[in-house]
Amino acid sequence: MKDLLARLTDTFGPSGREDAVRRVIGAELEAMGQRPLTDALGNLVAVLPGRGGGARILLAAHMDEIGLIVTHVDEHGFARFAPVGGHSPQTLLGQRVRFFDGTTGTIGAERLDDPKDLRIDRLFIDCGGPRPAVRVGEMCAFAAPMASDGGDRWMSHAMDDRVGCLVLLEAARALRDTPHEVHLAFTVQEEVGLRGARTAGYTADPELALAIDVTATGDTPKARTMDVSLGKGAAIKVRDNSLLAHPYVLGWLRGAAERRGIPHQMEVLEFGGTDAGAIHTVRAGVRSGAVSIPCRHVHTPGEMVDAGDVRACVDLLVEALTAPLP
Ligand code: CO
Ligand code: ZN
Repeated sequence: MKDLLARLTDTFGPSGREDAVRRVIGAELEAMGQRPLTDALGNLVAVLPGRGGGARILLAAHMDEIGLIVTHVDEHGFARFAPVGGHSPQTLLGQRVRFFDGTTGTIGAERLDDPKDLRIDRLFIDCGGPRPAVRVGEMCAFAAPMASDGGDRWMSHAMDDRVGCLVLLEAARALRDTPHEVHLAFTVQEEVGLRGARTAGYTADPELALAIDVTATGDTPKARTMDVSLGKGAAIKVRDNSLLAHPYVLGWLRGAAERRGIPHQMEVLEFGGTDAGAIHTVRAGVRSGAVSIPCRHVHTPGEMVDAGDVRACVDLLVEALTAPLP
């Protein structure tokens, strides 16, 4: 699991540039005997037919990560940029970034009289010039490879949401027998507004849908109060800014977790959103929820997850999908 996660997180894939990630996931699905298809926007979809008698259920995890897009390159090769997804200038300053072709840069700042003046438009990417190494419109993402503490804590700039992609793949691998027709959607462009999920949700036309994504935690020093901690199991989302999870879905997931004694926690996230936010309003509406992987330092190069939580998310999906709906 860890090796596949390292491959997924170390693959380049800011929003709209998910091709390399899609190739890694596509190869995994094909090795399981699946025939995944890519839609017009770039979503990768596989369908597990099931033995029949169940529901059509969509599971979605997004392939993209946050990135930066070059807006201007000056005559010395310094590149100005705009965020692709949610970034803070404090996090960006001093980070190393990598472009698709491997070009690497570091993020510097103009001289500031007051640290409070730090804004994204006062930062630039330095690829070592003097020749401009990058062009307007090119995208980069954080560069560091996945790291671990040697044990069960894993760190990467792209846990959001490659760890969700991993959970989907591992659940598909472990799901032996299900009455349900399970659609797996590896979506594009979540970080810029849940865009791939909208079309994937429309195409699948599901009766029930889940997003699999990271969520924040409240267990770091002076964190915003939040009842989710690293290492305490799968998080069952109750709400975020994009979704109020359907009570039926909450009961379904909670029942599965309790039946098998799978560690779980209820998640109330006061910001952010997931693919389920787009999916639950397609067509005539879809009862939706989310299984979240607790993650510290979301949208920084050090997004951190716990291996036990990842396993709990896989177990929860497999248990929920193995039984008929309640
Ligand atoms: Co995100
Ligand atoms: Zn995400």
